[in-house]
Parts: sequence; C-alpha cells; structure tokens
Amino acid sequence: MDKIEIKSSNYLFSGELKVPADKSIAHRALFIASLNKEMTKISNLAFSEDVRTISNDIQSTIKCLSDIGVQFAEIKGNIFVRGRGAKGFIPSEGILNCGNSGTTARLIMGLLSGQNFESVLDGDDSLKKRPMARVIEPLGKMGAVISSADNVLPITISPGKLKGGIFDLELGSAQVKSALIFAALCAEGETKLTEYKKSRNHTELMLMNCSDNLSVQGDEITIKPDPAIEIDAFDIPGDPSSAAFFIVAGLLNNGTNLTIKNICLNDTRIHFIEILKRMGGKIDISDTRQSSGELIGDINVKKSELKGITIEKDSIPLLIDEIPIISLACSLADGESKILDAEELRFKESDRIKTTVSELKKLGSDIIETKNGITINGVGSLKAGVCDSHQDHRIAMMIAIAGTVAKGETSLNNPDCVSVSFPNFFESLDNFRK
Ligand code: S3P
Repeated sequence: MDKIEIKSSNYLFSGELKVPADKSIAHRALFIASLNKEMTKISNLAFSEDVRTISNDIQSTIKCLSDIGVQFAEIKGNIFVRGRGAKGFIPSEGILNCGNSGTTARLIMGLLSGQNFESVLDGDDSLKKRPMARVIEPLGKMGAVISSADNVLPITISPGKLKGGIFDLELGSAQVKSALIFAALCAEGETKLTEYKKSRNHTELMLMNCSDNLSVQGDEITIKPDPAIEIDAFDIPGDPSSAAFFIVAGLLNNGTNLTIKNICLNDTRIHFIEILKRMGGKIDISDTRQSSGELIGDINVKKSELKGITIEKDSIPLLIDEIPIISLACSLADGESKILDAEELRFKESDRIKTTVSELKKLGSDIIETKNGITINGVGSLKAGVCDSHQDHRIAMMIAIAGTVAKGETSLNNPDCVSVSFPNFFESLDNFRK
C-alpha cells in the first residue's frame, strides 16, 4: 500500500479493543525459551493465529534463533520452542538477519558473545544506521570479541570467553541492559549491573519467574551464569505501547468510551498513562491480575480536555516509544508542553524528534525541535495534510490517529511499516468508523 487516507470526524472510539501481544515481552519469551532445554509453550505471541502475520520484528527473532539451532513449531496458534541451554547454540549457516529490529540485534549480540563460534549480524537499511557501540563497548568489557566498521551493522562476533564483574548501566536502555543480562548468563562468574536510569524490566521479571539466576535489589541486578530455566508456558499480554495510540485517539475524539483489554500494566511501561492523566486524561484501569510474572488489566478511556506538560530526565526512558503520540496529545492540549532530555529518540527507527516535529507541523501543530527535545504550544484544532511515515511504525500510527481529528482528509504515505508492531492497525482503526 502506497498511502492511506484518514477522514476526520468519521470515528467514534466506543466499545472494546484488543491490541497485539507485547513486542518486548514476546522477544524475551523467545530468548528465554531458547535457553530452556525443555519445551516452552508461548501463547498469544502473535496477534493473529496465522504465523505469517507475526510482525517483522518477531519474525526477526524467531528466524535468527532458529538459525542458531533453536526449534520452533506452531500448533493451533501457540508457538512451541525447544531451546539449547545457555551455551549450546550452533553456528548459523549464513548471516543472521535482524531485519528492522533493534531489540533482536542487541539481545542476540549478548547471547552470541559467549558462544564458541563466529556469527555475523546484519539488518535492514534503518537498523544499519542505528548505534551499536552502546552494546559493543560494555560487552567488550566482559570479554566479547566484536568487530564492526563504525559500530553499526553488519558486525562480526568472534568466539569469546566472557567474564562476569561489576558494570554500570548509564544509558537507561532496556535493550542494552538485556544484552548484558543474556551475556552474563553465558559468562564465567557472577555479574552485577547497576542501573542509574530505570528502563523496562521484563527480562529481569521473566528470568526471576523461571530461574534462580537473577535477583534485583534496588538498582542492582545480580546474574549468575548457566541458568536452569523452569517454565512450561509464557502467555504474552497486550502491548501498552500499541494501546497508547488508541488511548490518545479516545482522549481527543468526541463521544469516547473505549476499553482496551488484557494490557501489560508493568510500571516501567505505563508511565505514559500517568503523564496523560496528569494532562487531564480520563483513563481508568480495572480488572488487574498477574500473568507470567506481569501485572495485566483493562484500560478505559473517555474524551478529555487536556493541558500542557513538561516531560524530562528519568521519565524519558519510561516513555521512549510513546513520545510521538504524546506529542500529538500535547499539540491539542491547552498551553505549552516541553519534552526535554530526549536525545535517545534520535536513535530509533527514525530520528523521532525530527519526524514527530516535521509531520505534526504539516497538520498545523505549533511544534518546534529543540536541541534534545520538542516544544509544543497547544492549538485549538489541527488541519488535514499530506504526511509520511518515514518507514517508522510509531510515526505512521501517530499520524493516522492525528488524521482522526485533523479537519479534512489526511494522507499518510508509506503506511505499511505499522506491521512491525501492529499488523492490523488500520483494520482496528476502521472498526471505529461511525
Ligand atoms: C525495547 C526497549 C526500548 C524501546 C524498544 C523496545 C526493548 O528501547 O524503544 O521499542 O524491548 O528492550 P531502549 O533500549 O531505548 O530502552
């Protein structure tokens, strides 16, 4: 599909919605199941029961892990995984292609650094531009032997003898933290990681739930190598970062009474709800329960009058995927909003400071790029325009939601990238057409 058109005032966000399985948890379920020599069943890995509609991202992880000897089978929509233990992987016959997925590339670098064979990793044009020094350097300190021109893909990981030790996590990146945790599971001796900025903690929760090899005390994560994984099944909850698009759609459109079911409510993932509530958003959480070590529940949204907000510092890693859609909410909020300290946004599937600003500006937002962030002065309404996804799934979905409120018909070029995290996003949106 070259483009899609979204007509404002055509939507009523009323009723129920189910969003795809959480991408971060899905990646980790696949990695952890790969460490389990017994069979692990993963349910709700894909949104659809048809494995072909599994997002590119997840396919990247399944494909790479199967290339190093992990076995996968799909039976009645569930994925069954037979893993190989922490050090039992086998060399891939070819280059491991991580596609568009930064999470796949960084997590597998950790896992492969401690194996006794060479691996080469590559990815698509977007992934090839994303920084890998953040993983190569700390893994190097553990003894990994990784070479790459300019610290970007393609990279070669040579056989290495990893040693545990004491390391600092300064960046506030869950991908980097998880890469080091997977490396530590393949290292000699104990590893201690000190986390200075909190980031999503699924790797820790999931490993604590199925092994004795990881513990967390305050900011310190302790990892012992060679885990005995004891888990029969992972059930993946809905992705809050995907729900965020419909939550903002509901807040901005008249008549909303939307309930989004079975969403992961891990507190490192739903800071955006806290922010939207501080802005005046009417968002309620109900029916909370535990599933596979994570809190899940339902989210209800009603149309709200929003006011501007300042978002900065330690909040940023906890909102990293939601800042484009929060910027849309800020565009229609009363008063000024500032997003500060958000340089990390420049290293996502697109430079999300630039792409958020350029696309929302086309729709009449009073928005400017600052050194490490965005300043927005709320306006009364947006107008339709011709926008581009920049091949970034989260920018595409943000523009589509903006289209539901921007007066007239908004055109979104290159919308297909939504499949990276939300393959049926446009069908879900269509279900709310009046
Ligand atoms: C992810 C971590 C985040 C996020 C990405 C998924 C993960 O990146 O942007 O979409 O699954 O670990 P950081 O490494 O910046 O935390």
